[in-house]
Amino acid sequence: MIDLSVLLEIKSQLAIANTLHVLSFVIWVGGMFVVYNVLRPVATVLLKPNQRLPLMSQVLSRFTAWVWLALILLWISGIWIILLYGGMANVQPYVHAMMLLATIMTFVFLYLVFAPLRSLKQAIANKDFKSAAKFLARIRWIIFTNLSLGLFIIIIVNIAKY
Ligand code: HEM
Repeated sequence: MIDLSVLLEIKSQLAIANTLHVLSFVIWVGGMFVVYNVLRPVATVLLKPNQRLPLMSQVLSRFTAWVWLALILLWISGIWIILLYGGMANVQPYVHAMMLLATIMTFVFLYLVFAPLRSLKQAIANKDFKSAAKFLARIRWIIFTNLSLGLFIIIIVNIAKY
């Protein structure tokens, strides 16, 4: 029989870890949703390339800074929950799927930050808006990929859990 105080301790840790987990993916996935579906189309209609490209570059720089934080918290809280459940052997298959897809999302994010986003900032610093537009188009597809994966994880986890 498991001690009641131990059970309460596990439950309160689960509450904290789960809250951090949900906050992290809301910031990451929700942020990508707004950038992709709201900000980018409005900026394309209203702004000229020499205004739109620096705007998108600065928005993405600020957003990726928040994603670093969310990403770290997401992994820490996910691993914390797994440990509270007693390790990988005790978690449902959907958690394995979540970790696999989250690993892909993490590498895609790292690629975004260290390749096209860096090149976008450089092109804007050089006032080379033609190249900047090319890098932003690549970033658009990368965000679409990670947004789709993030939404897919949220859907499969909730279907599998309930
Ligand atoms: C962007 C990536 C991720 C998304 C969108 C995501 C999404 C979710 C969602 C929607 C839940 C259910 C929350 C609830 O019902 O309260 C959840 C739970 C969980 N996640 Fe993630 N997650 C991600 C990454 C990760 C990672 C990297 C790990 C492991 C290191 C992880 C481990 C877990 C665990 C262990 C649970 C609890 C499952 C359960 O209660 O049965 N997740 N996640």
